[in-house]
Amino acid sequence: MTRKCIKNGTIVTASDTFFGDILVDDGIIVMIGVDLDAEGAEIVDASGCYVFPGGIDPHTHLDMPFGGTVTIDDFESGTIAAAYGGTTTIVDFCLTTKGKPLASAVNAWHAKSKEKAVIDYGFHLMVSEVTDDVLYELPKMIEEEGITSLKVFMAYKNVLQADDGTLYRTLLLAKEHGALVMVHAENGDVIDYLVKQALSLGQTDPIYHALTRPPELEGEATGRAAGLTGLADSQLYVVHVTCAQAVNAIAEARMKGLRVFGETCPQYLTLDRTYLERLDFEGAKYVWSPPLREPEHQQALWDALWNGQLQTVGSDQCSFNFKGQKELGRGDFSKIPNGGPTIEDRFSLLYSEGVRKGRLTLHKFVDVVSTTSAKLFGLFPQKGTIAIGSDADIVIFDPMIERTLSAATHHMKVDYNAFEGMQVVGEPVSVLVRGEFVIRNKTFVGKPGSGQYLHRKRFGEQHKLPAVPSNGYAIT
Ligand code: URP
Ligand code: ZN
Ligand code: ZN
Ligand code: ZN
Repeated sequence: MTRKCIKNGTIVTASDTFFGDILVDDGIIVMIGVDLDAEGAEIVDASGCYVFPGGIDPHTHLDMPFGGTVTIDDFESGTIAAAYGGTTTIVDFCLTTKGKPLASAVNAWHAKSKEKAVIDYGFHLMVSEVTDDVLYELPKMIEEEGITSLKVFMAYKNVLQADDGTLYRTLLLAKEHGALVMVHAENGDVIDYLVKQALSLGQTDPIYHALTRPPELEGEATGRAAGLTGLADSQLYVVHVTCAQAVNAIAEARMKGLRVFGETCPQYLTLDRTYLERLDFEGAKYVWSPPLREPEHQQALWDALWNGQLQTVGSDQCSFNFKGQKELGRGDFSKIPNGGPTIEDRFSLLYSEGVRKGRLTLHKFVDVVSTTSAKLFGLFPQKGTIAIGSDADIVIFDPMIERTLSAATHHMKVDYNAFEGMQVVGEPVSVLVRGEFVIRNKTFVGKPGSGQYLHRKRFGEQHKLPAVPSNGYAIT
């Protein structure tokens, strides 16, 4: 049925809360009001529930080769899990290889996702060098593919890391063509030295992963990237911010008026460095880069979301099985594949740990899990809000359900859950993408391949406003 009426929910956007109905036709929200006439529409009862815009996860790594292996969750299992968790759009990182055409990487990412994704998706494009070929191809990727965000790694020396010259030239290109530059901000050269030093001393356990990547090196790289952004008069988005040092560098840049934005992730808000000390190599499950920090940094991150120094929460979904994948690093922490499973629990964790515990308002919650990512990544107002004309990407969320996060009940393929045993309150019960149920009463009813690729607008590009006729009444 193409017409649906979602009735009697408490509709919450990043700016408003109202009680009422949403009428959806052909995947688009066509009317919002109280007691709408729903003739000919399928009625969806949302009473007792919040009705949120679908979550937007701006940071995922599905089916990605990394650390000598490939992430275990692909575009099928990853997007199904995302949908269960209330996420209806992801933007995934397309990795490029030096010397190879950018188009070959983008085509490879289309091939991984096209028949598999159950929610909508876009790509960020990694830039590791700026050659004549890249200078020729990059504007085409922005224009023809709608890939309007570029990723530069300042860490992972000899693997993904780019030098400062490359970052600077990428910032200039982004300014010229209307893209947002994303950085993994850690000082890869110094980390490389510290890792070698630790291994030479026989320090091989997972905890040394954290000890060789101190927060000072994240703060330093964040400040450096922000400085180059100012010099280039460009725009920067710092992914996976973990610590007070990096928050401060972003805040300082923003106070100077720079277009610098920051994202954190649920793991940095809820877990800490002691997890890496778990016995029997269990610590490897909690190896992310940048690493989990000492507990006091969590407060700095919550505060930064609250006060706007950080603007978004991405999952950084990058899952590897404990068995056979994380185990590659037994006896050498530097060989543990970096990353963890977070795509499914991001939305609910932010609600439960954020809203329920008074660390975020309901509106701020919607803003950081959905709306601001839509705005920064060229998807607003098609995505990221509940408004007439927007895609009907909708989460019907029961705020009373109490549950325990666990690998036994999650929908990712990965063999452990990073938040195992954590109690949360609230759960998405039904999730619609462009007006079609993907999750209905906590059951997956979607279809692999139904997710659509998103050609995104350029950074700062305005959406087309509805025409206002001369009598002053806007037509809808
Ligand atoms: O440890 C992490 N974060 N793995 C994913 C790749 C990245 O650096 O974002
Ligand atoms: Zn375009
Ligand atoms: Zn990273
Ligand atoms: Zn990542």
